[in-house]
Amino acid sequence: MKENIIAHNYQVSKADRQESNKHNSFLLWFTGLSGSGKSTIANVVEQELHKTGIKTYTLDGDNVRKGLNNDLTFAPEDRTENIRRIAETANLMVDAGLVVLAAFVSPYKKDRDNIKNIVKDVNFVEIFINTSVEECERRDVKGLYKKARAGEIKNMTGISAPYEAPENPDIEIKTENQTVEEAVQEIIKFIIPKLNRQ
Ligand code: ADX
Repeated sequence: MKENIIAHNYQVSKADRQESNKHNSFLLWFTGLSGSGKSTIANVVEQELHKTGIKTYTLDGDNVRKGLNNDLTFAPEDRTENIRRIAETANLMVDAGLVVLAAFVSPYKKDRDNIKNIVKDVNFVEIFINTSVEECERRDVKGLYKKARAGEIKNMTGISAPYEAPENPDIEIKTENQTVEEAVQEIIKFIIPKLNRQ
């Protein structure tokens, strides 16, 4: 089947779209435990970028799992498929000229490496939201850790499923020592040269 699918070339290119947006497009990938602060930080980064006219879109685990990926569980193979679909979606959005923010637990290193293959290294910024499981469990904003301890949730990352921390993230945020505002400023500072604003 695949050999009968031939890509069509369209005349409006990614470069054309970037030129009309007046900035580059790429993917900011936030990884970390549930409750680590990924969505909170991504939300403020997006607001800061949006305020200055950057075209953005945020993909978020809890939201995407209610729609596009509502057929997937938290078993390892489904998490792999979850991340693959998000990476392909993000790739289309980067092609569309957007700065894409993606906040997913994405606990497996091989799945995060696959994102890099899909969107290409140069378009991928890995941001490790490094909050200890003890702190996430203390916060327990959604009550999931309590349920996991009670055995009501299986495969809970950090409790009954692994989290493989990035070894060489582009940015590492330690939310136990940094405020949200400090984290946001660090991320913005890192991406300003990548934006290449005209
Ligand atoms: S991922 O591992 O496949 O990347 P994703 O980011 O989409 O996970 O979804 C994680 C969100 O689902 C968490 O923020 C949490 O609210 C919820 N969740 C429900 N069950 C689990 C679980 N077993 N492990 C982790 N997160 C879970």
